[in-house]
Amino acid sequence: MERYDVVIVGGGVIGSAIAYFLAKLGRKALILERERMASQASGAAAGMLGAQIEMGLDTGPLFQLARFSRSLFPELSTELRELSGVDIGLTQKGTLRTVYRDTEVAHFQDMIKRQHEAGEKAEWLTAGELAAREPNLREGAYGAVYIPQDGHVVAPELTKAFALSAVRLGAEIREFVEVSSLMLKDYQVQGVLTSAGPISCNHVILCAGAWSGRLAAQLGFNLGVYPVKGECFSVVSARPLLTSTVFSDDCYIVPKPGLRTIIGATVKPGSFNRQVTLAGIDQLLQSAKQVLPSIVDAEWEKAWAGIRPQTADGLPYLGAHPDWQGLTFATGHYRNGILLSPATGMMIADVVNGVATTGVDIHPFAPNRTVQV
Ligand code: FAD
Ligand code: GLY
Repeated sequence: MERYDVVIVGGGVIGSAIAYFLAKLGRKALILERERMASQASGAAAGMLGAQIEMGLDTGPLFQLARFSRSLFPELSTELRELSGVDIGLTQKGTLRTVYRDTEVAHFQDMIKRQHEAGEKAEWLTAGELAAREPNLREGAYGAVYIPQDGHVVAPELTKAFALSAVRLGAEIREFVEVSSLMLKDYQVQGVLTSAGPISCNHVILCAGAWSGRLAAQLGFNLGVYPVKGECFSVVSARPLLTSTVFSDDCYIVPKPGLRTIIGATVKPGSFNRQVTLAGIDQLLQSAKQVLPSIVDAEWEKAWAGIRPQTADGLPYLGAHPDWQGLTFATGHYRNGILLSPATGMMIADVVNGVATTGVDIHPFAPNRTVQV
């Protein structure tokens, strides 16, 4: 039987980041992906690194993990380009949260206060300052929150860069191989059963995104990961529509390299179905028009959908199985798997290696935590 040190189940951004950080520690991993690499959520993401904008008023463990992860991107971008030749498209031009209702002003100014208390940058732009910065936005805003450090990357390129860099350092990847179950004996993981036969290993890392719960259930372990579908579309314009990413009430708009703009995303819990609906696109277009009227003149590019892996308390599951030696979970990153991928890769590589190097507390993300909802 084939034998590996570590088998990673799932070739999304999380599995690829873990393979990369393991490879940097000299640990050889095999990624098993049942479709193509990044063919699910990781290829569908808008790529925002929204450590502050996505957390709202929350400055708890997820926020701590998110801002640590965001801080890793500048160096990572250079490192991955040198190893893989792939440019992840890191763009650091900030994120705006527009405020068009006077009743919301106090809430967003409170958010700025909390961000300052947490040691992060955030500022209130007046309507005039907003118009000067983003002249294409609809007039009539009361102002906006500007978060200079929430940038973005090109999501599918990030997975590709992690995966190719990991391979460069000794990892292996097999696409179109599905893991059907785990081989377990005496509370120790022995390997995995796959559509290409059994593979033995010392460690299995489960990062199968929204599908992770199915393999965990086999161990009688209720991981509580559930799917939340998101639809997006993109357009191409003759001139840039925006400089910064814009969040509004019901959509976000992300200016990408090459005059592309991504408009996202719907939030449909409980669905593994990746069909893009006209209702979903209509909802996004109506919302985008409210904030960026000139979007209607841009050229249609494409639409797509992905399945986010959500958990009941909104925190990912990161860490070792409490009973089974050699089994580790890294899943449930919901809306922020792109952002959280470097920190997750480092922390899970540390779990496998039995050391802790990041300074971020992994315990709030324990797979057997008591979930408060
Ligand atoms: P996935 O990318 O889903 O990868 C899991 C992989 O496991 C899949 O490729 C699947 O085929 C494979 N798999 C499953 N079961 C098996 C099996 N039995 N055997 C082998 N392989 C298996 N995050 C951000 O940080 N910023 C954003 O701007 C952002 N925007 C988003 C927009 C949309 C529309 C969506 C849907 C998500 C967005 N996200 C964003 C969230 C982000 O995409 C996810 O959190 C992240 O991609 C999860 O990565 P993953 O590797 O856990 O899952
Ligand atoms: N983080 C954006 C999304 O999940 O749609």
